[in-house]
Amino acid sequence: MPEVVAGAVPGAVPEKDRETARQPDPEAGKQFLESIEGGNCKTCHYTSKLRMVGPGMESVTKRHTDEWLRMWLTDPQGTWRSDHPETEELKTRTRKAKAPVTSCVKKPMTQWQVDDLISFLETLEKE
Ligand code: HEC
Repeated sequence: MPEVVAGAVPGAVPEKDRETARQPDPEAGKQFLESIEGGNCKTCHYTSKLRMVGPGMESVTKRHTDEWLRMWLTDPQGTWRSDHPETEELKTRTRKAKAPVTSCVKKPMTQWQVDDLISFLETLEKE
């Protein structure tokens, strides 16, 4: 069981483990995002800017901080209910697109998988 540090961001690498932490692997993140056994994120998200069920992942790391992404990936429903400014912005975008409010799927992920995913999402940044 990973140690739970009070007040720590879910999924974050605890401070004391940072130095020994491995580097995030974008390729593993991509595989996780695409595979059915992994995140299966691509049933609902394109990696381009096109909206499918959910928003396109292009430049998602420009729209969000790492902190918010960690929160979202670890607990989309809880984050949706929160009044975090980045959630408010996502809600406004969802309303404007007249997209139905469905919920992003919660997948059990290790902190490494979250890191890998975010590092892959960072490769989707466009000007
Ligand atoms: C069943 C469809 C579905 C699946 C599967 C899904 N999502 Fe989502 N996702 C959504 C929807 C819909 C939203 C928009 C917010 C809402 O309505 O919940 C969203 C929002 C997001 C956002 C915020 C996007 C933005 O522009 O602010 C991120 C990041 C995200 N999802 C990542 C993922 C990842 C990574 C996975 C795979 C682990 C995943 N999603 C799986 C439907 C899905």
